[in-house]
Amino acid sequence: MPPLNAETFLQDPRVAQAKQLIADALADAQASLDGVRPANPALADGFNAMLEKFGALRGKLWYPYIGSGIGRGPLVELADGSVKFDMINGIGVHGLGHSDPGLVAAGIDGAMGDTVMQGNLQANADAMQLCEDILALANANGAAMDHCFLTTSGAMANENALKMIFQKHAPADHIVAFSKCFTGRTLALAAVTDKAAYREGLPDTLRVHYLPYVDTDDVDKSIRSALKHLRLHLGRHKGKVAAVMFELVQGEGGYNAGDAKFHRALMEECKKQGLAVFADEIQTFGRTSRPFAYQHYGLDEFIDVVSVGKMSQVCATLYKSDYAPRPGLVSQTFTGSTPQIHAAREVLSRMSAGDWFGDTGKNATIRARFEKNILDLHAKHPRLIGDKLFGVGTMMAFQVHDGSADKTRATLNKLFENGVIAFVCGSGPYRVRFLPPAAVMTEQDVDAVCAILGSTLVQVADELAQKQEA
Ligand SMILES: Cc1ncc(COP(=O)(O)O)c(C=O)c1O
Repeated sequence: MPPLNAETFLQDPRVAQAKQLIADALADAQASLDGVRPANPALADGFNAMLEKFGALRGKLWYPYIGSGIGRGPLVELADGSVKFDMINGIGVHGLGHSDPGLVAAGIDGAMGDTVMQGNLQANADAMQLCEDILALANANGAAMDHCFLTTSGAMANENALKMIFQKHAPADHIVAFSKCFTGRTLALAAVTDKAAYREGLPDTLRVHYLPYVDTDDVDKSIRSALKHLRLHLGRHKGKVAAVMFELVQGEGGYNAGDAKFHRALMEECKKQGLAVFADEIQTFGRTSRPFAYQHYGLDEFIDVVSVGKMSQVCATLYKSDYAPRPGLVSQTFTGSTPQIHAAREVLSRMSAGDWFGDTGKNATIRARFEKNILDLHAKHPRLIGDKLFGVGTMMAFQVHDGSADKTRATLNKLFENGVIAFVCGSGPYRVRFLPPAAVMTEQDVDAVCAILGSTLVQVADELAQKQEA
């Protein structure tokens, strides 16, 4: 059989040669990105003008961050010439850090595809392979997801999941979620997300009932309380509740760890009551001791629908056959770009083949190193940093100063200036959060980040004291 024209193209030796040349040029350009670097004063005017323009075009940026387009693992170069440790990675998107050679190569493969975007009427073999890859990871420990619907954002993955759940459970159209949950920013998800500011001025699109999240210091009491609330909601709204939506480790809410016994007790109750078990793994995916947090907590048997996003590059809703939507319910012009699909396959393959997971995997060892550093810093500066690393795996957060919004923000701004990019979570006390690219980090990187954190804490404390004196 003659080869497909696509094979002739992709296997052309000139293509391999061009890719090798790009890989070599990338390695050369990355060679000097070996640590934090201050901004180049000669670029300041142009950079500030760009920031102003960008701010005017899209609204003020959270940080003065405009990337130059290159980095090296946990380090990123900005357009002002500075190089910083990126410990937030677009809020958890870049699990392989910046300018990963494997991802650049995958992007080039994708860019050689016939279309930039794929979607409803136009999917290539790579999209099918990606669905297979995600399902294989999802079902590795006994979950039984049958289908995978690709999409462009975490919010759309959750929207599609909710639509499938409501269609199957109609006329039940209420949902149960947890206090402080974050689920996304569409109209429906703004109704579920437990943060008033994120739905200010919006119509109430969904009936949502909340359960208290687990307090890991008293799991049994948390189970009793959450079950009591669940039964009360079900009693008050007979036949109206379709599902419980689980964020197995809370992200935006403060990096609140989940608990296997707590989640299990609630999921068992869902099964007894005929409710769908929906796990939102947009942020947890790839960050615990297993690819999915439901695998980390041993909950595979309960999951009916699960959403993935962020680190997966292409977002997706995975679901059992009985949640299969009837024609017309879900469909999209775009499911993802072809480079994105190739990048997603590269990330999943590195996840499967690499040493990310388990007790001695990179997620665990990088977390342990951060934890040691944070505790050492607390011992030195007990009033400047808390004595606990919140979260699970590479979802990590800690409290600085008194946990107030302004002191946390002041610390984040100074950290950024000093070469570490982090972000906030929680809602009083606020916490500094890190979503580091553990797979491409060394323990020396962690120490370097924490050294900057230590000096920043002292600097901020001095500046606050000076302000008070003035
Ligand atoms: C748990 C969770 N669900 C949903 C979303 C929404 O994802 P996206 O921002 O890609 O729409 C996020 C994003 O932060 C998230 O953390």
